[in-house]
Amino acid sequence: MEVLTTTAAWRDRLDAARASGRSVGLVPTMGALHAGHESLVVRARAECDVTAVSIFVNPLQFGDPADLERYPRTLDADLELLAGHGVDAVFAPGVAEMYPDWPEAPSTVVRVGAEAAPFEGASRPGHFEGVATVVAKLFALSGRCRAYFGEKDFQQLAVVRRMASDLGFAVEIVGCPTVREPDGLALSSRNVRLSAEERRAAAVLWRALTSAQVAVASGERRPSAVATLMASVVGSEPLVALDYGAVVDARDLRVPAVLDGHRPLRLLIAAEVGPVRLIDNAPAEVALRSARRDALPGLVGVATGA
Ligand code: PAF
Repeated sequence: MEVLTTTAAWRDRLDAARASGRSVGLVPTMGALHAGHESLVVRARAECDVTAVSIFVNPLQFGDPADLERYPRTLDADLELLAGHGVDAVFAPGVAEMYPDWPEAPSTVVRVGAEAAPFEGASRPGHFEGVATVVAKLFALSGRCRAYFGEKDFQQLAVVRRMASDLGFAVEIVGCPTVREPDGLALSSRNVRLSAEERRAAAVLWRALTSAQVAVASGERRPSAVATLMASVVGSEPLVALDYGAVVDARDLRVPAVLDGHRPLRLLIAAEVGPVRLIDNAPAEVALRSARRDALPGLVGVATGA
């Protein structure tokens, strides 16, 4: 496995792979790798000839310097894990290599639009601009490839998809399912900062998501009622402070007026668990009977059997 630290070497390595007719799978990460990242690497290896992983803790996407400082850095263990998975090349640049003017931000950044405004965008101003900027730079350096991102960061995935499409990158974005602990907690590099008590409490996020899934599948049509339900489930856990819980249209992250069968739905949640901010999400399916009632309003009695 080659470990490269300069943008020039990275570009050359992946250009050479394509020149020899091999496809490239890129897994962008900030390190502190866990089984969620491993699932992205395994998928990239299965679908591409050359598996390339970037490890860069991107300062541009952290609003709070203390949060950046605390972000776990485990490069040696990360490299060992990636070598064990047969990764071909790792890009692990320093900050000066990616942002030569740092601590001044680069002159050119990516401005992000509507997908980036609510939820994480509202709670973490500038975060998605930082994500979109570093991902655009990684795409520019890596060239034509498939790029693998976890669905755990659902809004990030939407922002990256939009950015890649708007800017015309020759990159196919592949969203991969969230990997969970047995109690439902989504794997995250931040989980290692939870105390034992906070770790136990953090599973309430998954309980809130699954309660909301059941409510929507049972016929709840009001987004506000779903949000209230998620808040009340999280409220039962004193160590957890809810930031937001919402049901949105999975395509544009807008809250629909009513939950019907006409759009894919996604439940989003974020909370502070002690000092750690966690996010999670899950799909929601409207009950077939109530969906059919929307689609065929003239056939209410027939469709529902009522
Ligand atoms: O999801 C992450 O780990 C980061 O936001 C990413 C996509 C690697 C950009 O820094």
